[in-house]
Amino acid sequence: MTMIRAALRPVDETDRDRLLTWRNDPTVAAFMYSDHPIGRAEHDRWFDALPANTRRRDWIVEADGRPAGLNSLVDIDRDQGRATVARYLAPDAPRGAGLGGFAEFKMIDHAFGPMGLRKLWAEVLASNEVAWTLHMTHGFQREALFRAHVVKGGLPRDVIGLGLLAEDWVERRPAARARLLGKGFSVEALDAPLV
Ligand SMILES: CC(C)(COP(=O)(O)OP(=O)(O)OC[C@H]1O[C@@H](n2cnc3c(N)ncnc32)[C@H](O)[C@@H]1OP(=O)(O)O)[C@@H](O)C(=O)NCCC(=O)NCCS
Repeated sequence: MTMIRAALRPVDETDRDRLLTWRNDPTVAAFMYSDHPIGRAEHDRWFDALPANTRRRDWIVEADGRPAGLNSLVDIDRDQGRATVARYLAPDAPRGAGLGGFAEFKMIDHAFGPMGLRKLWAEVLASNEVAWTLHMTHGFQREALFRAHVVKGGLPRDVIGLGLLAEDWVERRPAARARLLGKGFSVEALDAPLV
């Protein structure tokens, strides 16, 4: 088993260009809602607005010290105690090696721990089985089917909505943690608080 040294760190200025490259890569863009190639100016506007946006938090997933993906909490609603999870791995990041699960674990712990949220939400293209299975492995339940919800490649596509409650996570966390330890992630990496 190849062991990945993984961590999450806040997005910083050094990530500006790589995020644009990643987001436009077909291996990432295919799974996002919007279908158009993102230009420099649109990206810079988005990136420049991140620090002041209290409704989202973004972390870079690192694998063996190299940036390997973007992991975000968006639509953070403090009144409702809810946020939406979003993530993708970089085009050259290892797939199926547990990085996505590692990021899911860390983000859920942070959301229900220090952030004090009570519900996480995710929307995934119905065809993206890897992504919704990953959420369900961590205790998300399928709560919605949005029919013909987004247009991708000129065709309307179904979207699945999944929710995880803080009390579900209390039950599911030990198994999720054991699973990631079994995939070679360290206790230190799993338990380190997010900044
Ligand atoms: C979804 C995504 C984050 C998953 O990351 P990952 O590191 O490959 O996922 P993991 O290895 O943690 O877990 C994936 C699970 O699906 C399984 N799997 C099956 N086919 C797979 C495939 N082609 N690629 C990756 N995993 C696959 C893995 O075995 C694993 O199952 P397990 O926990 O039972 O072992 C990543 O594939 C990705 O960035 N996709 C493109 C963007 C995207 O779809 N984002 C989500 C949009 S809502």
